[in-house]
Amino acid sequence: MSALLPLAGKRGLVTGIANADSIAWGCAKAFHALGAELAVTYLNDKALRHVEPLARQVEAPLLLPLDLMRDGELEAVFDTVANEWGQLDFVLHSIAFAPRDDLHGRVTDCSRAGFLQAMDVSCWSFIRMAKLAEPLMRNGGTLFCMSYYGSQMVVEHYNMMGPVKAALESATRYLAAELGPQGIRVHAISPGPLKTRAASGIAEFDALLDRAQAKAPTRSLVSIDDVGEATAWLATDAARRMTGQTIYIDGGYHIID
Ligand SMILES: NC(=O)c1ccc[n+]([C@@H]2O[C@H](COP(=O)([O-])OP(=O)(O)OC[C@H]3O[C@@H](n4cnc5c(N)ncnc54)[C@H](O)[C@@H]3O)[C@@H](O)[C@H]2O)c1
Repeated sequence: MSALLPLAGKRGLVTGIANADSIAWGCAKAFHALGAELAVTYLNDKALRHVEPLARQVEAPLLLPLDLMRDGELEAVFDTVANEWGQLDFVLHSIAFAPRDDLHGRVTDCSRAGFLQAMDVSCWSFIRMAKLAEPLMRNGGTLFCMSYYGSQMVVEHYNMMGPVKAALESATRYLAAELGPQGIRVHAISPGPLKTRAASGIAEFDALLDRAQAKAPTRSLVSIDDVGEATAWLATDAARRMTGQTIYIDGGYHIID
């Protein structure tokens, strides 16, 4: 890989690829295009069929199982990375889950179990990843998670994921403050709506897409490549003085009343 590429010689862990529509896939392509070497995770054997060809496309030398609900799997991923590479330069957390009944109801009515599971998989796991990544980021690094505007404003049908993403963005700021002295930067990426498998769990998602396109100053929806290219740039040295932010990649939607 050419040393002229800004991520040449860098190694990153990419979680959250389910298929070629996944935001994590847009990011993986962009990290690879800038010269990075990738470790890619897949949820389970069923997902492996879809993820394996994509991992091959970005020449990922490591393809590892990761279901955050299974004890020890996240630790095993980091153990493998430590054994194979001994260091890590960036981590992408692109994972969210909420039980359907809770997601489709009012926040007021959500169950304790559903709320805690959504927090566990979608937020707490990012903090766990930061802890496991810290000792491997001896030369500094960048941690990314994926958020959404529904953390800041009440977005119809986003429901319980709103408070979960708000916690994720706040965790991003605290992690950035704590890990910054070691040269580890932390960002929440906040893309506009994208038609992915996770998005299919949100009611009336097509109306959300229409609204996003009509209201965004760019009058366009974002693609996974738009999100990936901006995210990959944030992993480069050119972005070395940026940390702790929620970065909107939404055609400017969030500035409009
Ligand atoms: N699609 C959108 O409109 C949109 C907008 C803003 C933010 N996001 C966020 O982007 C991220 C990625 O979602 P996406 O839209 O690309 O959908 P996606 O369905 O392609 O990705 C979600 C990923 O989460 C993984 N996942 C779920 N439960 C898991 C578990 N227990 N262990 C490990 N992995 C698990 C799935 O396997 C999948 O790869 C999520 O955090 C989502 O909230 C999505």
